[in-house]
Amino acid sequence: MDFSQLQQQAKQEAQDITDTKSREEYRLKYLGKKGIVAEIFASLSSAALHEKAAIGKAANDLRTLVNHLIEEKSKKTASTSIKPEQVDISLPGTSSVLGHQHILTQTIDEIVSVFEKLGFVTVETPEIETEFHNFTGLNIPLDHPSRDSFDTFYLDQQDRSAQGRRLLLRSHTSPGQVRIMKEHKPPLAVIVPGRVYRPDAVDASHSFMFHQLEGFLVDEKVKFSDLKGLLTEFCRRFFGKDVKMRFRPHFFPFTEPSAEVDISAGTLGLARKKWLEILGCGMIHPNVFKAVSYPSGKYTGFAFGMGIERMAMLKHGIKDIRLFYENDVRFLKQF
Ligand code: DAH
Repeated sequence: MDFSQLQQQAKQEAQDITDTKSREEYRLKYLGKKGIVAEIFASLSSAALHEKAAIGKAANDLRTLVNHLIEEKSKKTASTSIKPEQVDISLPGTSSVLGHQHILTQTIDEIVSVFEKLGFVTVETPEIETEFHNFTGLNIPLDHPSRDSFDTFYLDQQDRSAQGRRLLLRSHTSPGQVRIMKEHKPPLAVIVPGRVYRPDAVDASHSFMFHQLEGFLVDEKVKFSDLKGLLTEFCRRFFGKDVKMRFRPHFFPFTEPSAEVDISAGTLGLARKKWLEILGCGMIHPNVFKAVSYPSGKYTGFAFGMGIERMAMLKHGIKDIRLFYENDVRFLKQF
């Protein structure tokens, strides 16, 4: 066998390697299991004794040479596969899209932050409630007509604390008052944000699920004027210094006296309607204190509840509540 000619041939054929496929074919031809190098080693057994050393060395040399040639070729194919002039580094890059918080989350955070700065503590209570927390403890007895306006979805699951009664999805955040007062003694200044559920047909201003924020403050000698002062300050911070508001008498079973707060449409730049209702409030009813076993006559307190969607709609001029839940980026990115 002419080994130097074989080396020549290997060098020559290496020049025909243009891509990974031809490189692999080349490698197999020389270094494969049945390749030329293997063949030379196989011939050793029948070779004359004095030739064996030279043949072995020739086979090793050829293998080293072929490996070297393949490596050289690999470097070249790698460095020539992207030609520098094909990359225009002056072009703008592909930026990743950054999301942001949903407008409802932003609104909750904003309202929570106003009350926290005024000394309130935020607590979240369960969305699945008992009839006691959602109704009875709030002075809404089983047969009371106002129970209809807070009617809700019932679960199949039984309430283990009341025989024969089923659990439900809370229809307002007011049960948070009962839960927290049962566990803690005054003084209390707490806000409870969260989801609530009502069996309402969905339209531009109704949804079977929406968000509320409850607030209450209990201590000795809390007055209605404390409630007025707090809510006035809240409205100024949330809607702006010039906001005009009024307290209008209303009825809620869990407060006495009760009121609804309206803000003037003019302060929001709307002329359509003079007053817009924003929340319900009042002095906590003695029966609520009784339900949480507070000593009779010792404490007074106020409570209020507002709809988050409503606050966001008023502040930003959003006309349809359904927009909050559709996840249409064209809507969401405006806030
Ligand atoms: N829970 C009432 C509702 O869902 C709102 C409300 C009114 C909450 C008066 C209160 C309150 O705490 O004092 O309509």
